Amino acid sequence: MKVHGTHYRTIWADDRERVHIIDQRRLPHEFVVLELKSLADAAEAIRDMAVRGAPLIGATAAFGVALGLSADPSEAGLRRAVAALEETRPTAVNLRWALNRMLNALVSLPRDLRRAAAFAKAREIADEDVAMCRRIARHGADLIFELADSRQGARVNILTHCNAGWLATVDWGTALAPIYHAFDDGAAIHVWVDETRPRSQGAALTAWELQAHGIPCTLITDNAGGHLMQRGMVDMCLVGTDRTTATGDVANKIGTYLKALAARDNGIPFYVALPHSTIDWNATDGLREIPIEERSPVEVLTVTGRTADGAIVPVDVAPSGTRAANPAFDVTPARLVSALITDRGVCPASRDGLLSLFPERA
Ligand code: MRU
Repeated sequence: MKVHGTHYRTIWADDRERVHIIDQRRLPHEFVVLELKSLADAAEAIRDMAVRGAPLIGATAAFGVALGLSADPSEAGLRRAVAALEETRPTAVNLRWALNRMLNALVSLPRDLRRAAAFAKAREIADEDVAMCRRIARHGADLIFELADSRQGARVNILTHCNAGWLATVDWGTALAPIYHAFDDGAAIHVWVDETRPRSQGAALTAWELQAHGIPCTLITDNAGGHLMQRGMVDMCLVGTDRTTATGDVANKIGTYLKALAARDNGIPFYVALPHSTIDWNATDGLREIPIEERSPVEVLTVTGRTADGAIVPVDVAPSGTRAANPAFDVTPARLVSALITDRGVCPASRDGLLSLFPERA
């Protein structure tokens, strides 16, 4: 997508195989590009959320392996890189998906070919992510147009949570991709953007992305969605997922489950968009099997923003000494999901639904 008229991906390697990312910790206040110079830089960028969002975490891990092999192309070096990256964030399964692909592609190669092959594979994973998101965009846009037709031209109000836009992927996004596609094709759309405490990915990233694209949007507190749904002000919820079980349960940013409950109570469709790299085919029970990342209480006890003098700083929001808990994701059971929007099409959130699109997994 474009930033100030220039097309960017969220991660890329230049022709000298230097890896660059957009530092998402600085957005929306500053647009800063960082170079990742080592495996340790890549692991830290994922852990500290300079990059975030399930597909981008996977792509960054792939480039992290390539950087690791630049320093140590041995098989032990490869395995060490994979192990170091694997433990950076637990919930997004794209991380393991990308690391397994890197390991399988590289382990049997001679040592002197590994580094170049690793960069080629990481680029392939990044390109595939873009292609998958483009397909999600087309499938999801059909749903938006169906809704728009039934509303005879009145704008479609879509509620989204966290950031599942181009910043969460290599380009285009998952949940926001259909919105970009439908908007570019003329659909009248307005997006309700959940602020998404504690890291405020909605306020900082989704609002920034949508406005840069000219899409009308309104930022709301995380608690406002249910009220808006009761008043008929939401026509559809559209979110991403960090891990989807083979039975259609989805883990996404904390607070997603409450939106799904409110949507069900108000008869509003609740869609989840995902590339197939987000499906954990080994998991069948999201509540029991998906590990939920527990992040630092500091994220709850503070809010980071820009002060009048331009400094970007965290400020305290609770009395000193307050105890805080910070589960970063929750699981929405398949029964609350109206449909999954995947790169292969739209299906019911169920084992049969997923298998109808991915029969090779039967
Ligand atoms: O903690 P984050 O910002 O990495 O969480 C991201 C989300 O929850 C997104 O909704 C998710 O990755 C799915 S969309 C690409």
